[in-house]
Formats: sequence, C-alpha cells, structure tokens
Amino acid sequence: MNPQPSIQMPGQWSTVAPTVDWMFYFIYWLSVVMFVGIVATAMYFVVKYRRRPGVKAEPTGHNNTLEIGWTVAPVVFLVFLFHFGFKGWMELRVPPGDALVIRVRAKKWLWDFEYPNGMHSVTDLHVPVHRAVRVVLSSDDVLHSFFVPAFRIKQDAVPGYYQTAWFEAVHTGRVDLFCAEYCGTGHSAMHGNVIIQTQAAFDRFLAEGAGPRQGETPELWGRRVAQDTQCLTCHTIDGTPSVGPSWRGLWDRTENLADGTTAHVDENYLRESILLPGAKVVRGFAPVMPTFQGTLQDRQIDALIAYIRSLH
Ligand code: CUA
Repeated sequence: MNPQPSIQMPGQWSTVAPTVDWMFYFIYWLSVVMFVGIVATAMYFVVKYRRRPGVKAEPTGHNNTLEIGWTVAPVVFLVFLFHFGFKGWMELRVPPGDALVIRVRAKKWLWDFEYPNGMHSVTDLHVPVHRAVRVVLSSDDVLHSFFVPAFRIKQDAVPGYYQTAWFEAVHTGRVDLFCAEYCGTGHSAMHGNVIIQTQAAFDRFLAEGAGPRQGETPELWGRRVAQDTQCLTCHTIDGTPSVGPSWRGLWDRTENLADGTTAHVDENYLRESILLPGAKVVRGFAPVMPTFQGTLQDRQIDALIAYIRSLH
C-alpha cells in the first residue's frame, strides 16, 4: 500500500484502497483498449468501404460466429466485473464487529465528532491506526457528504437518518476530509483532516480532552477553539460583516435585533447566542447559525467569550 499519491489517485491509506484502485485501473485500461480497438476498426471500415465510382453497395448476410463472439466476450467481462465489484462493495459496507464507533454529525458548516468516551472534536477526526473504525453519520440540517479520498470512502449524511461507513487506516499521518455535497455558503469550508495516530497517541488525545494547552491563556485557547470550531467561516475578526456579525468591536456594543429590540453584548448574550443562536438575531443577518449545544463544553464557551472580549 503506497501512501504517495499517483497522477490519478490519492495515496492508499486504508485497507480497502488497493482493491478499489485495482478495480478502477482494470476498468480504466479495459476502456482504453475498447476505445482504441473500436475507433481503429471504425476508421478502417470508413476507408475500406468508402464510396467509389463503379462500386455498388451490396447487403451481405449475417455472420453467426462473429455475432456469438461479440456477445459472449463482453458477458465474460461483465460477470467478472460484477463479481469483483460486488465483493469490493460488500467489503466497504460490512464493518468488522469489533470496530471502534465514532458518531459524526454534520451541520452547516462543520463536522462534529463524538468519541466513545463522550469527548467531541470539531473539523479534525482523530483515529487510531490499524484499527477498524465505524463512523455513524447524520446531519442536523441539509445533505452533507463525508468524503475521505485517501480511504476511498464517501457517504452522504442525511437529516433524520443514520448512515454508516467504515475504514481501517494503515499509516499514521494526516489526510483530507471533505464535504462532497453542496450544502450552502460555507460548503467549501467544511474541510478538515483525519488525523491517524498510534493507539497510545489516540488514547492520550481522548484522555486530555478538549482543554487548554500548558500555559495557554483563555484568550489564546478561545482563538484556537474558534478556529477548530469553524466559527471564523462566518464571523470575521477584522470588523467586516460576513454571514454573521464581525467579532471585532462586538464586545460591550448594543446590537439592534431583528425583532426591533436591542441587546447589550456581554457574557450572557454571547453564551446564549452560541447555545441558542435563534434567540436574539442581529438585524440584517439571516438566522442560519447552528447551535453548539452539546458540541462545546462550558469551559470552551468561556474561552470563546474571553477571546471575543479581547477583540474589543
Ligand atoms: Cu456540508 Cu457541503
């Protein structure tokens, strides 16, 4: 299994990748051979049977050997393709019984990963290497699609329905994770990484939880939370309004709300806006922010508030 990408394919980072690639290249080269063969034959006939003065077109009878030949030969290929295609599909659909289960919730516009110990991470999915992982996918709003090219898996996340996919990573490192279903303004920002770690490093990641790093101030931790949680997809920190109000100068301001009332931006207003984004919508902005209830812990919300306060 080669972790280096080729000109056509990303690197092979999962157990199923070589099977998928083998099938892909088989169909690819079969198509090349068929294309060249058919076009060459057509060109040959065009020349051989072109209209010439004095030569009259005459219908010929049919050729049983030829007709049976060109019927049976493709059938053999199709049965072969079906057999290996179905086998590969079953491998992709049926996870091993002892797979580690990670709950994945997609929403506009982030990925929220929940690990077996209840810990969450946003944007980046951490997994142990050489261990089957089953992701249980759902969406909180519209269709999204969980796509990890290096694992050769793609599965839609559907509102109100669970979908599953599984993989076993074979190298440690970092590969791309995309949303592969257009889901609105922030679709292109629904991009993260799968971080494949040794079992020991993965256990450490789970144990440390989502706390601050050694010596990190609440403001700096808050900035990291904002980046990891994709807040900055919709909120700028330079004063320019985007999908939502900018955080620059937000603190201590009095906002005009969509319902005609006003609100003073303090700790309680920010906390409520993170957990219940629809409660106090600022005039001029659409009520599109997802809730972070259950995604962010109280201490992370404190850190975010400290960061927004520092952008005064
Ligand atoms: Cu989520 Cu595109």
